[in-house]
Amino acid sequence: MEQIKDFNTYKTAYQKSIENPEAFWAEISEEFLWYKKWDKVLNWNFETPEINWFDGGTTNICTNAIDRNLEKFGDRTAIIWEPNSPDEAAKKFTYRELHQAVCQCANALLSLGIAKGDRVCIYMPMVPEGAIAMLACARIGAIHSTVFAGFAVESLRDRINDSECKLLITADAFHRGEKTVELKTIADEALKQTPSIQHCLVFNRTNTPINFVQGRDIWWHDLVPQQATTHEPEQMEAEAPLFILYTSGSTGKPKGVVHTTAGYMVFMAYTFKQVFNYRDGEVFFCTADIGWITGHSYTIYGPLLNGGTTLMFEGVPTYPDHGRFWDIVDKHKVNILYTAPTAIRTLEMFGTDIFKAKNLSSLRVLGSVGEPINEEAWHWYFENAGKKNCPIVDTWWQTETGGILISPIATVTPLKPAFATLPLPGVQPILVDENGKEVVGNPAEGRLCMKFPWPGMARTLYGNHERYKQTYFSTYPNLYFSGDGAKRDENGYYRITGRVDDVINVSGHRIGTGEVEEAINSNDLVVESAVVGFPHDIKGQGLYAFVICNSDVTDTETLVKEIKHTVNERIGAFARPDKIQIVPGLPKTRSGKIMRRILRKIAEGDTSNLGDISTLIDPSVVETILKSAV
Ligand code: PRX
Repeated sequence: MEQIKDFNTYKTAYQKSIENPEAFWAEISEEFLWYKKWDKVLNWNFETPEINWFDGGTTNICTNAIDRNLEKFGDRTAIIWEPNSPDEAAKKFTYRELHQAVCQCANALLSLGIAKGDRVCIYMPMVPEGAIAMLACARIGAIHSTVFAGFAVESLRDRINDSECKLLITADAFHRGEKTVELKTIADEALKQTPSIQHCLVFNRTNTPINFVQGRDIWWHDLVPQQATTHEPEQMEAEAPLFILYTSGSTGKPKGVVHTTAGYMVFMAYTFKQVFNYRDGEVFFCTADIGWITGHSYTIYGPLLNGGTTLMFEGVPTYPDHGRFWDIVDKHKVNILYTAPTAIRTLEMFGTDIFKAKNLSSLRVLGSVGEPINEEAWHWYFENAGKKNCPIVDTWWQTETGGILISPIATVTPLKPAFATLPLPGVQPILVDENGKEVVGNPAEGRLCMKFPWPGMARTLYGNHERYKQTYFSTYPNLYFSGDGAKRDENGYYRITGRVDDVINVSGHRIGTGEVEEAINSNDLVVESAVVGFPHDIKGQGLYAFVICNSDVTDTETLVKEIKHTVNERIGAFARPDKIQIVPGLPKTRSGKIMRRILRKIAEGDTSNLGDISTLIDPSVVETILKSAV
């Protein structure tokens, strides 16, 4: 695959990808291992919607990510693992070692009765075995459903049940910063209500004593290392599901976004190589957890599909001190660092003294993902981490898009702070107004949609194609709607302004207001609640909950604590509201709809102009809420 080396080449590639998308993607796909080549590159219909890439072809993404690299790069490091504590030794897997480990895990899964098409839930900390488990699933054709290890009992349970996973792979516990999370204890609770689970494979990370259920639970070390180190991969149809990843929407329960095999593979390999200008032999450090899409696409699949070296970090940027990222960069000679604005803003708070003792000369490219990066954070990152020498790629994409859609190409695209800049080849964005009419010309502002498919896009929501259609293809006919708003400057550069729906982006974690409200409402003392986002210096957005409680509640302080606890227990600590205000009522229209616009203004502290409140059943409720705003 040819690397885009200058802006003209980008423009030519882009042009080609628009004029003849099939020829464009076919050429890129040639270099992969196919058991059988495709009959047709693309069939698509955004109405039904049905998207089909490389129809008739068969391949295996694990073989392409590992076996294909063995001959040339067998002794190259595939995964570097840096543990939470710098006192513990880092681990490395060469491509050969990774191949053996993945084959052993694949054989172990088969021995547990896991077959092609079965769902396997992976609830693991940031350890190589998490990646190995995912790759092993791909190898045997099982569908992995990774659940972020920060999720609590009910979230885990619901995700397992939604896709009826047969196996859960987890660990005894793990350390993250100063904290210890007893993962198996959480899993045990969830497993009380997950009838589809037959076995639980437990990786021993910390020697924490666990409750061991005979017959159901198996230690990783008792099963996996005993297996044969070779395995004949399953030949997968191009559109066979590869994984499910649950993400939040504005309403209802989390959606099981389904990604399929060949299109995802080609798109991850392509976008990784181009966006980061990845050069052979470089060390790539993506700080995202494998429980999120960034971890799937750019900690695991993208780098490995390019024969690259990927670094997995178990800990947090502030442990044992706020120089940890930079220590890791120096220790492992990281060339490309890919992180989230929230991490940058957190580190920014500590000042720049820490950089005096760091070298950082290995760094060549920096990346940002997950939320809009503000200009201040951009400059801080550029000057302190990149020493003004490293381009920053501000990459815009989503769980549903599989990979990066709008981003500068490192060393190629002229940068503009806080702008994701231009679409990658093969990506056709369009801005529309609220009625779906295209906003033409520049500068412009509107809702960000895509008018043409790209190989890495989600194909459905697990078990609910109708919801897939409703969520992404029904708002504006014949367009994929991202849920984001964007501006386009006079040069056609995109700046993502944030969600236009009720999804809130807290520290780069996508949280649906509906989910948090449901958790809060589950408390018996709560009558109703409404959750909105507000600007937060570090997290980007924080959560503000307005809660109506039962008339018999006298101790609201305890109630507020309890509500936080409930959210912790049901979703996970990252979704805990930053502010909770007990209110006597919510601003509702005559049709019973909560006017969130007003609540958002109150949460933002911008109460000078609340707009028209005359359509509310009881406008005086606004005054009352304002008086006790927190
Ligand atoms: O609002 C956008 C924001 O994150 C949302 C997608 O979240 P998720 O599916 O969890 O995936 C995160 C990792 C790709 C988007 O709808 N977002 C993501 N990247 C950016 C961004 N907002 C602004 N700039 C970005 N670079």
